[in-house]
Amino acid sequence: MLDASELEKRLPVGRMGVEVHLHSTIGSTNDRAAELAREGAPEGALVLADEQTAGRGRLGRKWRTPRGSGIAMSLVMRPSQLERAALGAMGLVGALATIDALEGLRLEPRLKWPNDVLLEGKKVAGVLAEASWTGPALDYIVLGIGVNVKPVPLEDEVAFAYPTTSVEDSVGDTVDRGTLVFSIVAGVDDWYERLQAGEAHPAWEEHLAFKSEWVSLTNGEQELTGRPVGLTRSGGLRLETVEGEELVLEAGSFQLRPMDTDQPKPN
Ligand code: BTN
Repeated sequence: MLDASELEKRLPVGRMGVEVHLHSTIGSTNDRAAELAREGAPEGALVLADEQTAGRGRLGRKWRTPRGSGIAMSLVMRPSQLERAALGAMGLVGALATIDALEGLRLEPRLKWPNDVLLEGKKVAGVLAEASWTGPALDYIVLGIGVNVKPVPLEDEVAFAYPTTSVEDSVGDTVDRGTLVFSIVAGVDDWYERLQAGEAHPAWEEHLAFKSEWVSLTNGEQELTGRPVGLTRSGGLRLETVEGEELVLEAGSFQLRPMDTDQPKPN
């Protein structure tokens, strides 16, 4: 079990972790954080769970957090001004915070657009940023981050729809979840500030996985092939198509996969 008093000794970090709500078991930390936000929780309120029974991922997918296996955390964010298109950027703040924390363990994480974190080409963490609006006005954002810390049981891998790994698989040793939570919370504080100062963009591009490699993207209706060339300032993917045109895709509903390297490339 994560140790609440240990965490509370180290938090808050800047504006993040000003309140800590630690649950032994919960449906989804994102749902709990949204409930707290509706009740008026301040920016930086943090919800953590040792086990999630109804964790959610992007595109309606399930996210498994068996007891003690990983990190399931959600932060209430209240940016003063945010356009709808910039929600993707908030997701990237969560991904960069996770990337920094993993680099602190001497690992080499990459960012699979829109906001998955990969280690050695396999998914180790995912981010789900969910906003609530009243008309054009933003009420709050819940920034949810899930990290596989312990090795993922084989039967759970199917839920991820992408090859998975864990932090401990890469480190080759046990990793303290509390320390990792603290590093991620500190990273969110840092990158949130840098996002608002316009400084996050180069770091996204620097960590982008599959840059200039052929990838396929689908949203269920459209199937696209191209090469990622970078990201826009709101977190959209700049994709060079087979015809050499540049498209910009907003995070929304797209799912990206590298093309099978044994297959001939489109010409
Ligand atoms: C994805 O990869 O599709 C995003 C996964 C996000 C999972 C985290 S775990 C903490 C928070 N609570 C949820 O229900 N989901 C997010």
